[in-house]
Amino acid sequence: MQGANPFHDGVRFGRRAPPCTLVIFGATGDLTRRKLLPALYRLAADRRLPPSFAVLGVARRPLSDEQFRDAAREAVSKFSENGPRSQEIWSEFARVLHYVAGDVGDPAAFERLAARLAEIEAARHTGGNVVFYLATQPAQYETAVEGIAAARLHQGAGFRRLVVEKPFGWNLESARRLDARLRQVFPEEAIYRIDHYLGKETVQNILAFRFANGIFEPLWNRRYVDHVQITAAETVGVEGRGGYYQQAGALRDMVQNHLLQVMATIAMEPPPAFEPDAVRDERAKLLRSIRIWKPEEVEANAVAGQYGPARIGGEDLPGFRQEPGVDPDSRTETYAALTLLVDNWRWAGVPFYLRTGKRLPKRVTDVAVQFHHAPLALFGDGGSWGTAPSLLILRIQPDEGISLRFLSKQPGAGMKLRPVSMDFHYGSSFGAQLPSAYETLLLDALAGDNTLFIRQDMVEASWAVVEPILQVWAERKFEFPNYPAGSWGPAEADRMLARRGHVWRRP
Ligand code: BG6
Repeated sequence: MQGANPFHDGVRFGRRAPPCTLVIFGATGDLTRRKLLPALYRLAADRRLPPSFAVLGVARRPLSDEQFRDAAREAVSKFSENGPRSQEIWSEFARVLHYVAGDVGDPAAFERLAARLAEIEAARHTGGNVVFYLATQPAQYETAVEGIAAARLHQGAGFRRLVVEKPFGWNLESARRLDARLRQVFPEEAIYRIDHYLGKETVQNILAFRFANGIFEPLWNRRYVDHVQITAAETVGVEGRGGYYQQAGALRDMVQNHLLQVMATIAMEPPPAFEPDAVRDERAKLLRSIRIWKPEEVEANAVAGQYGPARIGGEDLPGFRQEPGVDPDSRTETYAALTLLVDNWRWAGVPFYLRTGKRLPKRVTDVAVQFHHAPLALFGDGGSWGTAPSLLILRIQPDEGISLRFLSKQPGAGMKLRPVSMDFHYGSSFGAQLPSAYETLLLDALAGDNTLFIRQDMVEASWAVVEPILQVWAERKFEFPNYPAGSWGPAEADRMLARRGHVWRRP
């Protein structure tokens, strides 16, 4: 009987992860607390982890295994939707958590790490397999990997993998430099670059929607699609990450990675097989087909914004420049909107509009594919809705689902039209809570499936797209702030679309 043993076989959902130890650098940091521990806990509770599995946390703070387990319990209670479900499952899970204190810059830390690893390997029979997860500040990535190499931990009896979080470099050149350093120690196929958007169920479902159904793909091209809008709007500000965010900005934080990956998923060609490199080849090819704007084209095709203070519903919201850790004269953008064109036969001339921002009115990430107008206005203007084009909306979050909006006859005399919609909601169709992106990606990394991870050629192609914009923006004097907190961003973004005869949807 499987009983309450959460490590029964690790074979749920068709994925078998072999025995291994997951070493998390940055084990007391934000990412580990908010995302990794809750995801690991849920995998454990759902019996999706292998029976011989261990976590070894590494961070500077001196903690015992017990203290690390307590901290983990607190994190799971706080950041997991259901919290620890039962004491029994929690105890099983807690038993696999271990900790070793050390600074990634200190060779002695790696000696201690090696000793703990050997101990855990013997006790939990992890077969010498190790997945290293860099959840530290990006500035420590190279040092951590050098430490791994110096202690010869990148080699051994079992497999060795390295999971890296974004940002992968700061621009094209630094991305190449970082990659060169990582590749001195780990081969490309052992490097798992995470973009958590690719792990979202709804983003994976774009592939199923497009390639498991015969009816959409024939329409998925310039003959039928007028334009595409990809929105990732957040209501939050910088949430205590002012220091990082002020360096990064919206273009680096969201567009270079998440939005371009969503765009690639929407626009890529069908892969010949659902295999890691077949899928990644197509994503990479699409990213390479995006037109790279010349410096003089940037102004017309990219808009930057920064939120200012506002009072909403009796609450005073600070502007970006008033956020903790942010320079009062900061020129960093908290909003970015781009027009991108894809120079291939399928998409030539179809604009892809991407936008993202902090402190917008609504938290929503979606993709709207707008089809061409009917060629003939057979019903005149059909009432006030006129000839509204059909729209397919892929809702990535929240209220995950897909809607097709089309015109319908309003009941009654005459031929008045009104848009109606056919809706699919994950909640009502599948019931179950969706796995988080980190659950999916952690399990994939343990199982050795890198389909949903970013290959270096994809990293470089994405940097190539945003690089000219970054360069032009670095030189430009923006009149910031240019949108109040709680609004849909700067008016300039509306003008950018208006020039091509389009308007942003209000999700
Ligand atoms: C992260 C960014 O990668 O993605 C954050 O650094 C952003 O600034 C977050 O808030 C958004 O992720 P999600 O899953 O909440 O849409």
